[in-house]
Amino acid sequence: MLVSKLPNVGTTIFTRMSQLALETGAINLSQGFPDFDGPQALREAVARHVMQGRNQYCPMTGLPALRQQVAAKIVRSYGVQRDADSEITITPGATEAIFCAVQAMIRPGDEAIVLDPCYDSYEPSVELAGGRCVHVPLALPDFAVDWQRLADAITPRTRLIFLNSPHNPSGALLTRVDLDRLAELIRGRDIHVISDEVYEHLIFDGQRHASVLAHEELYQRAFVVSSFGKTYHVTGWKTGYVVAPPALTAELRKIHQYVNFCGVTPLQFALADFMAACPEHVEELPAFYQAKRDLFCDLLADSNFTFSRAPGTYFQLADYSAIRPDLDDVAMAEWLTREHGVAAIPVSVFYQSAPKDMRLVRLCFAKREETLRQAAEKLCAV
Ligand SMILES: Cc1ncc(COP(=O)(O)O)c(C=O)c1O
Repeated sequence: MLVSKLPNVGTTIFTRMSQLALETGAINLSQGFPDFDGPQALREAVARHVMQGRNQYCPMTGLPALRQQVAAKIVRSYGVQRDADSEITITPGATEAIFCAVQAMIRPGDEAIVLDPCYDSYEPSVELAGGRCVHVPLALPDFAVDWQRLADAITPRTRLIFLNSPHNPSGALLTRVDLDRLAELIRGRDIHVISDEVYEHLIFDGQRHASVLAHEELYQRAFVVSSFGKTYHVTGWKTGYVVAPPALTAELRKIHQYVNFCGVTPLQFALADFMAACPEHVEELPAFYQAKRDLFCDLLADSNFTFSRAPGTYFQLADYSAIRPDLDDVAMAEWLTREHGVAAIPVSVFYQSAPKDMRLVRLCFAKREETLRQAAEKLCAV
C-alpha cells in the first residue's frame, strides 16, 4: 500500500486559481508573476550564451562570475562583504535553497517555527526531513511578529525559525529592531534561521530593507535566500541564491549537490552579464513597483474593498468584508474569478488555522498598467 509522505499536500491554490483564471478568461492577479518581460538585454544575453555554447553543467556552487556579482550587490545594498566562494551558492530557485537549508538543519523530531501566514514550501520541506512545524500567527492587522508568542513557542526541540521580509502575502516588513529581538531570543540556543528575502528589492515609501545579511549576530546562524526571478522579472527561470556563513554553506552544498547539482548554465552567464552592466536595475525597482502599487490602489480607492497600501512585495491585500461577508476567502476568490473576472488568492491558505473572520484576498500588482486598469475596473464594479 502506498503511504504518502505528505498526506496533507494536494494541488496548491496557486495552481488551482491560475487554472480557473485560464478556464474563465479572468484577469489573473492570483499567482505572483509579472505579465511583462524581464529586461531585453538580459533576455538577449541568454540567447547569446546559448548560441555561444554555454550549455553544459556549470560548477555545483554556481558560476563564479554570478556569485561575484551577487557579492557586489550585497556590498552595494547592505554595506557588508560576503565571500563569493565560501558563502554564496546559486540554486535553481529560492525554493530549492530553502529545501536544502531545511534538510541540512532538521533531523527527525526537530521543530521549526513558521510565522503564519507563510509561504507554502516551508512546511513540506520540514516534514520531509522528519521535523514538525510549529505555527505562530503574526499579529493582525499589521502582520507584525508577536514576540511573546514566538518566545513561548520555542522548546528544546526548536532548531529553525523562518523569517520572510518583505512578507508574502501581506507585504509587511521586519525592522532592525525585530532582528535584534530575534538575535536576543535565540542567543545561546542551538537554533538557526532561514531568512526568506526574495522580495528584498521590492520595498516602498522610502523604507530600507532590514536584511539578515547586515545583522552580524543573526547572520552567523542564518541562511539568507533570494531570487533572481523576483528581482529581474523572470520568475520562470527559477534561479535564486543562498548566502550563509562557510560552515552552514558547506552543509547546504552537500545537499544541493544531490538535489540538483547545479543551476541552469546560460541563465547564470546572462544574469552575471546583466548585473555587471546594469547595477542600477535593483536601485530602480522600488520606484518601478511603487508606481504600480500606487496606480492600482488609486484605482481601487472608490471600490468597496478596504486596504492599506502594501509596504513591500508585489502583493496587495484587500478586505472584502463590505462586499460578501458571508463568503469565506476561498469561496470569495472563486466567486471573484467566476462572476467578476479577476482571479485572486485567499489569504487563509497561508495559515495552518486562519482566524475564522478573516476576509482578505491577495492581489498581485506585478502587471502592466493596462492589466491593472482593466482589473481595477472590474473590482470597482463588485
Ligand atoms: C516568500 C517566497 N519565497 C520563495 C519563493 C520562491 O522563489 P523561487 O521562484 O525563486 O523559487 C516565493 C515565490 O513566490 C515567495 O513568494
